[in-house]
Amino acid sequence: MVCGTAEGDDLEYVIVVAKNGDYRAFDASCPHLAANLNDVGRSCCGKTLVCDSHGWEFDLETGAVIRFPGKSLPREKLEILRVIELDGEFEME
Ligand code: FES
Repeated sequence: MVCGTAEGDDLEYVIVVAKNGDYRAFDASCPHLAANLNDVGRSCCGKTLVCDSHGWEFDLETGAVIRFPGKSLPREKLEILRVIELDGEFEME
């Protein structure tokens, strides 16, 4: 799993490339307190992404929160964008 960044239309994205070559993109704004995942740091490990700001952990398949410091499960989730790669250029839908 590899994490990268992309920009477009005044938005910043986190792009994740799985070992099988699948691409996923997420708005770089963390659903918790809107920290920029590309600025505060994030780590992709297996099938999850962790925001380094407060440690919320997201499922990369669904975008759902799977680990967080609080007691009640947050409803926020990463918005997954469809990524098309064409000749080394990425397009998000
Ligand atoms: S802003 Fe990302 S976990 Fe708090």
